[in-house]
Amino acid sequence: MIILGIETSCDETAAAVVENGTKILSNVVASSVELHQKTGGIIPEIAAREQIKCIIPVINEAIKQSSNITINNIDALAVTIGPGLIGSLLVGVETAKSLAYTWKKPIIPINHLQAHLYANWLTAVDGRRKAEDGLPEFPAVGLVVSGGHTDLVLMKGRGKIKWLGGTRDDAAGECFDKAARVLSLGYPGGPAIATEATKFPIPNSQFLIKLPRPMIDDNNFDFSFSGLKTAVLRQAQDKLSKKKRAILAFEIQEAITDVLVAKTIRAAQKYQVKSILLAGGVAANKRLRDKFNSQLLQSNKLCLSILHSPFQFWCPSPKLCTDNAAYIAACAYFNYQPVPWEKIKVEPGLRIC
Ligand code: KG4
Ligand code: ZN
Repeated sequence: MIILGIETSCDETAAAVVENGTKILSNVVASSVELHQKTGGIIPEIAAREQIKCIIPVINEAIKQSSNITINNIDALAVTIGPGLIGSLLVGVETAKSLAYTWKKPIIPINHLQAHLYANWLTAVDGRRKAEDGLPEFPAVGLVVSGGHTDLVLMKGRGKIKWLGGTRDDAAGECFDKAARVLSLGYPGGPAIATEATKFPIPNSQFLIKLPRPMIDDNNFDFSFSGLKTAVLRQAQDKLSKKKRAILAFEIQEAITDVLVAKTIRAAQKYQVKSILLAGGVAANKRLRDKFNSQLLQSNKLCLSILHSPFQFWCPSPKLCTDNAAYIAACAYFNYQPVPWEKIKVEPGLRIC
């Protein structure tokens, strides 16, 4: 089955053609990030105006790049209905509905946050995972860490999702973005902090500045990141030397990733799952991925002999972590529930489940 995915929940305008939920035939993303860099964040009206200009060329390009695929071969459309910015969502949803009507194709409305997790079902073009390596097994614990959301969920099967916890204030990506702004590192903050953090060797950076690890030992699966931003703000009150900026970038990345890894592994242990699925823009963070890999290696060694079988760790290639339409199409394939186009509406405040 060939699905055309469309994604416009934030500042990206994206379209992708995906076969059987796993094989990416094309994946086109147009971003207005350069416009937002000037203002240090997204201005919703500017994002939506850019998306109106880009949406048709992006869809055309996605079809053109998926060799041998024409409109006739497309079996269905999938579109993000929320959560996201209302103006941006409307551009994608209204375009997808018009195409479904004109082309007489089924259309599947998609929850952007659930869809992020399905990036783990896609075979990455960079060869990170080949189809023969298999697909994630259930039950699974999923951590979705993006610019606006931080959610930990239990997936008993496709579409069978239970919310375990989430952030009580700022999202992990938001914390990266706000801390980067305090450190004058630009937008988007996650990649900027990650680059800055590498400027100071790890053994020297440790212990120089210690930021809190909010809620790390609490007996729940909730997170809180707004205090970290305030702690960075306090540290950065005086003029920042180059060294202090790098140490702060290093430590904020350590603090965020420590909490995310600890709570996710604890959830995996509690629910005795087979897989841990990482997803969302922050999942592109190398330090986060490395920490998961090394801590799971240790925990898996231990649990080989006791408790439970080892966890499989799944993380999409960095390009598939940030917003794109390939995982929208993948999610639609694995949760194939078309809805008459007239009934599809944007839901800016949609929750993961
Ligand atoms: O999922 P996403 O592309 O868009 C939303 O749905 O929000 O996530 C964007 C977020 C931003 O906050 C950005 O700073 C963060 O993901 N991000 C990263 C990295 N790349 C993107 N955070 C940490 N390290 C990265 N390498
Ligand atoms: Zn996203």
